[in-house]
Amino acid sequence: MLPLKEKDKPIVQKLLAAGCCARCVLRFCCVSVHAAYRQPPQVRLHYSPGFKLGASGENNKSHDAAGSDAHEEPPSKRAKLEPGASGDMSGEDAAAVAGQRDEELRVCVVCVGVLQELCDATQASKVCVRVCSQMCWGLFSAVDELTCPFWILQHSCWLHVKKELREKSAKLDKDDVVQVKEAFKWVMQGLVAKELGGSTLCSQSKFEVGVEFSHPETDADCHFLASTCPDCFKPTKNKQSVFTRMAVVKALEKIPEDRHSPCPPRRPSSSCVPLDVQCLHASVFVAGRYNKFCRSLPQTPWLIDGERRMESSVEELIAAPVLSSFRAAGFNFSSSGREDVDVRTLGNGRPFAMELLNPHRSSFSTAQMKQLQETINKSSDKIRVRDLQIVSREAMSRMKEGEEEKTKSYTALVWTLKPIRRDDISFIDDIQDLTLDQKTPLRVLHRRALAVRHRVIHSMSARFLDSHHFYLSLKTQAGTYIKEFVHGDFGRTKPNMCELLKTDTDILELDVESVDVDWPPSIPE
Ligand SMILES: *[C@@H]1O[C@H](CO)[C@@H](O)[C@H](O)[C@H]1NC(C)=O
Ligand SMILES: *[C@@H]1O[C@H](CO)[C@@H](O)[C@H](O)[C@H]1NC(C)=O
Ligand SMILES: *[C@@H]1O[C@H](CO)[C@@H](O)[C@H](O)[C@H]1NC(C)=O
Ligand SMILES: [Zn+2]
Repeated sequence: MLPLKEKDKPIVQKLLAAGCCARCVLRFCCVSVHAAYRQPPQVRLHYSPGFKLGASGENNKSHDAAGSDAHEEPPSKRAKLEPGASGDMSGEDAAAVAGQRDEELRVCVVCVGVLQELCDATQASKVCVRVCSQMCWGLFSAVDELTCPFWILQHSCWLHVKKELREKSAKLDKDDVVQVKEAFKWVMQGLVAKELGGSTLCSQSKFEVGVEFSHPETDADCHFLASTCPDCFKPTKNKQSVFTRMAVVKALEKIPEDRHSPCPPRRPSSSCVPLDVQCLHASVFVAGRYNKFCRSLPQTPWLIDGERRMESSVEELIAAPVLSSFRAAGFNFSSSGREDVDVRTLGNGRPFAMELLNPHRSSFSTAQMKQLQETINKSSDKIRVRDLQIVSREAMSRMKEGEEEKTKSYTALVWTLKPIRRDDISFIDDIQDLTLDQKTPLRVLHRRALAVRHRVIHSMSARFLDSHHFYLSLKTQAGTYIKEFVHGDFGRTKPNMCELLKTDTDILELDVESVDVDWPPSIPE
């Protein structure tokens, strides 16, 4: 296997002369053989008759992947570009060789040291210390975080060899250059696996290790970019820095090549400083259905001007035990619709799902999930949970799918101004598919746009209680405002119960009896 080919020669020469390290040379030659990167960083680049990396004849994949380069001849301290037996060294070659000799131990112009001394066994053992001290998952997949300067350096180096890259193959483009973080990962995975006593690496792992670097010397380049292309760097709510990869790449494309920072990049005088090593587990999603038995419990924390109005919420009552079981850092709660603070949710309950952020525990047996459910059930008599289970991120979207078309069933306790008898309300049982025109209710007008919504009451039935009260059961399209249908909302909902009964009516209590969303799947007892 020869990762570098004869046709790479012009690119290799140009990159070495510009001050790239051997691994960056491989990247720009679009080499994706992981083993090639696992060679020691002070690697020798041969070309005879094609280019090879490492001692000739010994660099096959299985051999390198095993990482047993200890038996090879010790890596040369000096990076050399050796002319092959058949190759005549041109003046240009000689200059490249000389150039590389002089600069061999200097900081690479593109990766600023990340793929040099920051990508070695010492760094790997630092990562391992963090991995082991934070948590003990067997699976590992490394991701590093590279900030703005890398994208700038990468771009100017790409401009530098663009012509040669295109000559090599017309199809090659900037995106084919192997990213620093990929090369870093390929090298580190091997080293970390070795350090962890031969753990198996799993590229599909949900466990991520982030290695962060900073390079103060090139930080100013970002500000140059920002002043040249202010439109590209707009603050967004969720991002800590405006210099996201997308924004930097976009800005670089807008800047004309001649106005660009030096190309090839300037020689840095220092390499990157490794910052923190972070261990992150991908989110775990938990779903279930909840009952709410209390008429003074909001679904989510109820804050007015930053002050709490109710001591708890459905969300918090469910989340507290779940977070502590999964030892997660935070959560996002969502549900299929929501009920008002004074409305109970009975029957099979309302589907909900939670994203658990950076959990420290992620696998639970059915019995353990049941245990957790019991803990939630026992923690408060205001709520209960059923069908608690771990679901995939994709499955979560099923909860929101076609939400408007779903039906919901309710029971309302209705008061009438005029005294009623049993047969005054029996006609209600015959009403079917009644279409309502509902103007946005007065009580939500401060947060919803004014509109008229059409909602259907599929069926209704009435149960006489006394001369001023009856129970009204309804099966409706999701999104129907029940309270407004009963009291009429000053004529904003039409038709309404006042019109139907020809007297003033009001709603005293409301319960959700069922939310007909067939997700999450029910769990047999
Ligand atoms: C790789 O090298 C080993 C020993 O050096 C040899 O046994 C094996 O056949 C080689 N594999 C390939 C694919 O060249
Ligand atoms: C989830 O919650 C975190 C904070 O807890 C927040 O930063 C993030 O934007 C939320 N994500 C979604 C998809 O709501
Ligand atoms: C929790 O409460 C729900 C609703 O009453 C019930 O269906 C479920 O079986 C209970 N689960 C456990 C484990 O207590
Ligand atoms: Zn480099």
